[in-house]
Amino acid sequence: MPPPVLPDIVTRLRAAGCVFAKEEGRLLVAAARTPADLAAAVDRRASGEPLEHVLGWAEFAGLRIAIDTGVFVPRRRTELLVRQAASVASTASPRAVVVDLCCGSGAVGVAVVAALDQAELHAADVDAVAVRCARRNVTPVGGQVYEGDLYDALPEALRGRVDVLVANAPYVPTAEIGLLPPEARVHEARVALDGGRDGLDVLRRVAAGAPRWLAPGGHLLVETSEQQATETVEAFSRSGLVPRVVRSDECDATVVIGAAT
Ligand SMILES: C[S@@+](CC[C@H](N)C(=O)[O-])C[C@H]1O[C@@H](n2cnc3c(N)ncnc32)[C@H](O)[C@@H]1O
Repeated sequence: MPPPVLPDIVTRLRAAGCVFAKEEGRLLVAAARTPADLAAAVDRRASGEPLEHVLGWAEFAGLRIAIDTGVFVPRRRTELLVRQAASVASTASPRAVVVDLCCGSGAVGVAVVAALDQAELHAADVDAVAVRCARRNVTPVGGQVYEGDLYDALPEALRGRVDVLVANAPYVPTAEIGLLPPEARVHEARVALDGGRDGLDVLRRVAAGAPRWLAPGGHLLVETSEQQATETVEAFSRSGLVPRVVRSDECDATVVIGAAT
């Protein structure tokens, strides 16, 4: 069979519903080492796999982040969380201690420390596949990745030392998982999406545990939805953090920031 050519690939991707068929086609062509690789990649994308899983990387905050099959693809909106975390970290100690909890690929932590002159990065996730992927991104920037449930994964030596604790935890209410596009629903791990009945189960635990790990003057930053912001703020207040909300309509992103008292 002759190797697929770009116009045919674009037609196929467009028919499969890819909005950015031309751009995606070019990326698939550029990434393929052989015509057989290219044909397989086009098949995968046309069958609905996220482009980032097919390519093996995602562009995030101006960086190329390795993404393994099944691992959560970092979203553009999460760049607001990165910007806020980097801003808070830059006013902390000269070598801020940054922890990326629920790290997935590690994209958030890597992007935060990329914006700083110096930082100590630690990342953790409960999913072994995500942890393996995060090591590919976090180790090259000198960080450490741990596997386990939220704070259980972190070394005791970090208690009371964390300047910036950042978490893009799952926050989709269980009943809404079925409404997500198939790229997320089918190709990303359920544990990466499902936030429980009201979507806030993991975020509440993150907020409750944060004061034990934050340094004096440290901050917890989480992404949430606009609808969940009020309850997220309440969870922060209950745990003794002083919360504020940052909203970007342009990115449809909401971040709650809590300062340790
Ligand atoms: C929405 S994804 C975000 C991943 C990454 N922070 C990002 O923005 O690309 C949520 C991540 O939280 C992890 N996770 C879910 N529950 C967890 C828990 N109890 N402890 C640690 N990680 C958890 C999932 O495995 C998944 O990688």
